[in-house]
Amino acid sequence: MLNKIGVIGGGFIGGVLVQEIAQRRLAREVGLTDPAPFVNPSDPEEKQAATAKQSVAKGKTLDIAEGLPTLRSDVKVYGSRDYSAIEGAELIINTAGVPRKAKPDGTFPTREELLSINLKVTNDVAEGIKQNCPDATIISIANPLDAIVYTINKRLNPPKNKLMGMAGVLDSGRYCYFVAEAANVSVENVNAMVLGGHGDTMVPVRSSCLIAGVPVSKFLDNETLQAIETRTRKAGGEVVGLLGFGSAFASPAWSALEMAEAIIYDKRKIMPVCAYLDGEYGVEGMFVGVPGIIGKNGVEKVIELDLTDEEQQAFAHSASVVRKTCDEVDEMLKNL
Ligand code: APR
Repeated sequence: MLNKIGVIGGGFIGGVLVQEIAQRRLAREVGLTDPAPFVNPSDPEEKQAATAKQSVAKGKTLDIAEGLPTLRSDVKVYGSRDYSAIEGAELIINTAGVPRKAKPDGTFPTREELLSINLKVTNDVAEGIKQNCPDATIISIANPLDAIVYTINKRLNPPKNKLMGMAGVLDSGRYCYFVAEAANVSVENVNAMVLGGHGDTMVPVRSSCLIAGVPVSKFLDNETLQAIETRTRKAGGEVVGLLGFGSAFASPAWSALEMAEAIIYDKRKIMPVCAYLDGEYGVEGMFVGVPGIIGKNGVEKVIELDLTDEEQQAFAHSASVVRKTCDEVDEMLKNL
């Protein structure tokens, strides 16, 4: 058990995180920070004053705290509009971001506009961590994943083992789920890894996909596996399309908690993690999804798999796309 976990962003994912941390008793305290609801300067003054008194973070944490007696959990749960709620946290999980939604004029922000908005949010996140818990280990979930982790690193420059992104556990979970469903076996039997950037170029590694230790190709034909791999790459969008609001939230939160538990209990568990690469997989100075050993020190080691030629090429392509995004972020950060 840790003393304190800080959760940044109290939206859909942040809410599940706080709830689960309290229920699983992963720390003595959990603090949630979120500046919402945002005060609209064009509202009448009275409305502005009323909004400023509200707090998503305080409301969500009060709701969860009031349910804790029924769970027999004494975890202290609290929230704030500012970053004071994360003071002293040993572990931070970052979910802060602004989703793609219509602007007041009815048009949608471009990809660049949205990236720029989320980099501004990430600047605040980095500053909040620096002021309140500079030594925390950080798991970041917010999208675009690769760009946000890169930005946190640029702003905070933490020891590289202490900053990581969560994407691979979720993408691998999706891959495993589809394989288990198609093979009609328990999800407990399926092991797989999805590596690379968190986007359309991600690499479901078929050579690492095993059912009860047996290569997946013994159970499913090539065509079925190709369809599963394509569905895995688009799985986030599939949920978005069905929901009609926001994006996946339960599975990302549980995936981040799998990483958090590996750190808290010093499991040295091997899982895909968006980790800093210093030459591994031929990548230098960037965070990309690779298998890593996760323990009390964060990313204890990056493991280099023997990928097939095809997988290697796909990984290199995915890393080059992440590189492009990082170059774009470098340019944008100059003006933020
Ligand atoms: N500091 C802290 N929180 C912030 C900040 C900030 N500067 N700016 C915005 N937020 C908060 C928002 O107020 C919102 O409550 O971040 C929260 C994000 O929550 P949701 O919009 O509900 O998004 P969620 O589904 O939780 O996903 C969070 O993870 O998977 C990714 O794409 C997803 O980037 C998104 C993130």
